Amino acid sequence: MVIKKHYNLKRQNTFGLSVMAEHFIEIHSTDELSEFLNTDFGEIRILGGGSNVLMTSDLQGVVLKNEIKGIEIVEEISSHAIVSTGGGEEWHNLVLWSLEKNLGGIENLSLIPGSVGAAPIQNIGAYGVELNDVFHHLEAVELASGKVRLFTKEDCQFAYRDSIFKRKLKGKYFITKVFLKLTKQHQLNTSYGTIKEILSQNNILNPTIKEVSRAVISIRQSKLPDPKRIGNSGSFFKNPEIEVPHCQRLRAEFPETVFYEMPNGKVKIPAGWLIEKAGWKGKRSGDAGCHENQALVLVNYGNAKGEEIRDLAFQIRASVKEMFGIELIFEVNIW
Ligand code: EPU
Repeated sequence: MVIKKHYNLKRQNTFGLSVMAEHFIEIHSTDELSEFLNTDFGEIRILGGGSNVLMTSDLQGVVLKNEIKGIEIVEEISSHAIVSTGGGEEWHNLVLWSLEKNLGGIENLSLIPGSVGAAPIQNIGAYGVELNDVFHHLEAVELASGKVRLFTKEDCQFAYRDSIFKRKLKGKYFITKVFLKLTKQHQLNTSYGTIKEILSQNNILNPTIKEVSRAVISIRQSKLPDPKRIGNSGSFFKNPEIEVPHCQRLRAEFPETVFYEMPNGKVKIPAGWLIEKAGWKGKRSGDAGCHENQALVLVNYGNAKGEEIRDLAFQIRASVKEMFGIELIFEVNIW
């Protein structure tokens, strides 16, 4: 176990923020994790790909980076395979691996930044698919006791960009392995408008999972800034759900309101639309900004500080609240 002191996390967070960790330790195996748990470096924070966190000040204690690797099929039946993946693998590497093995279910989740261990925490989702749809179970270690625990899908209490690991068990477990149930006979989800359009433009009637993945990648590349070029952590806010009468009042005032009726009787409004309508799209204050193609994404154009991005997020939230009476919820974790 290598302990780095006063370590700059700039390359460890996709906002590219220069923040110092008092201690930084990479964990490559469960044995290394057990070794660490016999020590005391103060407060523990766990980092995956650093793609869903906004760091606003230097961090005391220790930051643990999950580097547990390995992808393998652990069980196979005629229709499905159960795939085990180390929590420290990059999510998109797993997607590429699944495409090569012709295993389906995560092609719509192509190019999502971040690690496999972080994927269940916020139940990652895109283009009509959520991790929840393919999740089988996971293995995690309780930091307080060092005990290994298996979590079923029900145990994880998945919801829209949410799970028990963002609520009751926040910061309490280190996710070592994630098991997914992937298909051999694929059931594609091409219902998202732009995927359909791209496939039909290319005259693809019966797409393969690789073709769906390619369509998803081209949509993401056209709308979302590449964190390797412009610091960001994807959607900064969740899409809010409101009651029907509230939506009716909104539509009376703004007939062009974009909304989706939900199975639970509520209505989902894209936060990107609200933020754009409130005038923030493409706005910049110093190096902190609201992206010009997708208002849901806040960006670091170079040398922004975490606090500046957080302040911008609070200003956006206040102005959306004032204009529409809707309270936006942060999707990103603030440290
Ligand atoms: N819209 C605007 N202005 C904007 C952005 C969006 O008016 O600046 C409107 C669009 O007109 C569109 C609607 O909002 O009608 C939805 O936009 P989009 O399809 O781009 O999706 P989103 O709701 O903004 C969500 C996820 C994304 C995911 C896409 C596609 C959340 C918080 N975000 O965004 O996830 O890729 O759907 O499924 O649910 C992420 O979590 O980091 C992420 C990028």
